[in-house]
Amino acid sequence: MELQFKRHRRLRQSSNMRALVRENFVRKEDLIYPIFAVEGVNIKNEVKSMPGVYQYSIDRLKEEMDEIVELGIKSVIVFGVPKEKDEVGSGAYHDHGIVQEAIRYIKSHYPDIVVVADTCLCEYTSHGHCGVVEGSQILNDPSLDLLAKTAISQAKAGADIIAPSNMMDGFVAAIRKGLDESGFEYVPIMSYAVKYSSSFYGPFRDAADSTPQFGDRKTYQMDPANRREALREAESDIEEGADFLIVKPAMSYLDIVRDVRNSFNVPIVAYNVSGEYSMVKAAAQNGWIDEKAIVMEKLTSMKRAGADLIITYFAKDVCRYLQEDSVL
Ligand code: PBG
Repeated sequence: MELQFKRHRRLRQSSNMRALVRENFVRKEDLIYPIFAVEGVNIKNEVKSMPGVYQYSIDRLKEEMDEIVELGIKSVIVFGVPKEKDEVGSGAYHDHGIVQEAIRYIKSHYPDIVVVADTCLCEYTSHGHCGVVEGSQILNDPSLDLLAKTAISQAKAGADIIAPSNMMDGFVAAIRKGLDESGFEYVPIMSYAVKYSSSFYGPFRDAADSTPQFGDRKTYQMDPANRREALREAESDIEEGADFLIVKPAMSYLDIVRDVRNSFNVPIVAYNVSGEYSMVKAAAQNGWIDEKAIVMEKLTSMKRAGADLIITYFAKDVCRYLQEDSVL
């Protein structure tokens, strides 16, 4: 009997042959780079747990923005790190708060860059939670007004996209209503619709100084064990008017990215979070992995899972890699 089998290796014989049949790509247009704007002057602070990521005061933001433009990144997501915090996160919705001023600076000097505003309270509240606190409870409905106010102040400052990340129920509806009533009908909402209560956010909390001072975020962020619940979250955000859906984190949740991709027709965004970044940087610094190959494999897998866009601290690295030949 003759052996019968398929010769899959025919299409893998050379680098150019593999390039011909490659199905998924990472492009620089797919990337959104996070920026941390800190109150103060002459500050450029490297985040300890995130080598290569810095907090900038607005007077030094030019260095970061010039590099971003030079590398060909088209979009940034802006986080604010204020000096003062209070119980109700007033800094989040102050017209001249740190994030509003950073957005204003970027839009006036780099008008073509698409600026996404992270809309949350946790960087601005003394307790570090994403909503209004009463005793040990994180209140849902009273937080919605503050979030809508935050979104409006960010849109006024020039934000092109509002990205609410605080996981209160109804946040998309409240923000959409607030934006529409203030004349921002054309400002889209990129909802962190599917956001898990994840330990992969650890390093970000160093960068944004937003660690909860008591308890955790498990009553508002999702249980990592749940899959169907992701579709319920995504569905309600679409009904409330979300224009994009974020799944976060990315790497351990690629099944969820695929589920959401298959169920909804809006652009899907994978958030390649801080812990995913730090682990790669730490291993690379030890010489244990091939950083470029690992980063491209990770990001390509997010595209393959169905993400259209990726929010990633690797955006600058990836743009450098893309200038070279043969990235996979
Ligand atoms: C704010 C927010 C967080 C992240 C993005 N927006 C922190 C959190 O929910 O604790 C995490 C980003 C990252 O880890 O890279 N709510």
